[in-house]
Amino acid sequence: MAHRVAKVLDKTMVDITFSHEQPASLVLVFLVFLATGFIIHLYILEPLLYGRLSHIPGPRLASLSKYYLTYHDVSLRRNETISQWHRTYGPVVRIRPNEVTLGNPNDYREIYDTKSRYDKSKYFSRFVVYGEDNLFSTLKYADHQVMKRSIAAAYAKSNVVTKGEEMVRERVDAFITAMTMEQKAHSVVDIFVLFDCFSHDVMTRFLYGQKHGTDTLLSSQDRPLVVNLKRSQIWTPLWVNFPTLHTYWLGRQLLPKEYVKNGEYGADVTRRIESLMNAHDADKESKYEEMFSLYGHMSKGGKLNRNQMASEMFDELKAGQMTTATTLTYVAWRLSRSPEWQDRLRSELSTLETDESGKLYLEDLESCPVLEAVIKETLRLHPAASGRQERVVPLGGRTYSGVYVPEGTAVIGPTLVLHLDPDVYDQPLQWRPERWLDASEEEMKTLEYSFVPFGHGARVCIGQHLAMMEIRLLIATIYRAYETRLGETATDYEMHQLGTLAAVPRGLRCELHVDRHS
Ligand code: HEM
Repeated sequence: MAHRVAKVLDKTMVDITFSHEQPASLVLVFLVFLATGFIIHLYILEPLLYGRLSHIPGPRLASLSKYYLTYHDVSLRRNETISQWHRTYGPVVRIRPNEVTLGNPNDYREIYDTKSRYDKSKYFSRFVVYGEDNLFSTLKYADHQVMKRSIAAAYAKSNVVTKGEEMVRERVDAFITAMTMEQKAHSVVDIFVLFDCFSHDVMTRFLYGQKHGTDTLLSSQDRPLVVNLKRSQIWTPLWVNFPTLHTYWLGRQLLPKEYVKNGEYGADVTRRIESLMNAHDADKESKYEEMFSLYGHMSKGGKLNRNQMASEMFDELKAGQMTTATTLTYVAWRLSRSPEWQDRLRSELSTLETDESGKLYLEDLESCPVLEAVIKETLRLHPAASGRQERVVPLGGRTYSGVYVPEGTAVIGPTLVLHLDPDVYDQPLQWRPERWLDASEEEMKTLEYSFVPFGHGARVCIGQHLAMMEIRLLIATIYRAYETRLGETATDYEMHQLGTLAAVPRGLRCELHVDRHS
């Protein structure tokens, strides 16, 4: 009997225990269900079906996760991927959950124009150096205007010519010396490295003054600086997507030193900037005129502190060096593929007057139609900047090409999409300088409206006059006296342009044969 009671009790206990557990597990199931539903709502349904940006066309994966574009970015295919998406989805494309690109030139004008006063997105905070903003990293439109007042005059065309022309000409001569030495030694010239050196020397001399600038063209001691900087380009997309990776133990073990924006190269730049500032401060008499430098200009203005000036110089060196070198490289590569355009350019240059030392006048070069057409067509097909010109849609949102984009969304006018628009540029993938020569006045207006290699509006490239002076003087000097032919490695594959910060050629080289024109 006792045994039977115990059995009944046992059963009851089991039942009782079970009936206690049932509501607990139901609650658990309900909570898991709720959490899954919430996650599905937040990360799938909301972005795809009823979120703020769900009406904007684009690849579904791009709407769901920012890492879809990140994948294309770190694979160095960002710009071509975005161009492909525009061909599929039209002028307004959602490229990330909160980011949209605009391929119509009217929309481009709207977001960059001075009248519109868009702020930059937080993306640009990555470019703060020494804990201080520079022109490029300043987000707020109004703050940028204040900062620009301390710097812009140094880059006005008249100042660039007065202060920079002689210095650039001296580096052009150094370039020709280095180029002929290379050709003799190796019977082929890696013109990309030499253009890199040329623009590095010009930039450092313009920023720090002649005395503190580099001589990477002719001094073997300075040359490694440029090689390191060039290699670091490949890592720039990883860095912009994961700027703090190197602060983790694993990151430090796996990442190359070129990944870190300030790495070895940054340390050298910092040393140079410090020594320049110390020399300047020790000798107050060696002021602006003597220094011929951006630093001289900024310190004369007295509005920026030491770290702000250092930040500006660091950033401008990076902004101005590789972009100019890349443009020069693609001009030389395109001309090497096209002997007939080389001939046309040479005959145009041969009609120009020279001074008593045989040098071409800059004003004449500015009005050489073939030279201009060759440079412009190269800037169109091979824009050298990354195309990451993010801005933030202001309060109230805006409508672009009929599509409403809410406030706070990041918007970009991707340069390559405009430059490859088949409605504007006939056979857009072909390098055809004649399009700039044969266009009627009306057609030219259309071509120019979509041509934005230096950006547009309030944040247009501050260094464009310096860059164009370098390009005109160097290309004219080379092609007046020399002929170039493709080296074996200068193939389409090697010269394919990557989606890095300055859109460099895949092979990080461009080997050409250089002969004196007979
Ligand atoms: C062919 C050469 C160059 C190209 C294609 C180029 C392209 C560009 C582009 C597209 C922008 C606009 C970025 C934006 O809107 O967010 C820009 C801005 C800038 N560039 Fe250049 N650039 C070149 C050379 C230079 C040089 C030589 C310098 C030297 C100082 C320079 C310094 C800057 C700076 C400081 C900005 C930021 C301006 C601002 O935010 O107000 N660039 N550049």
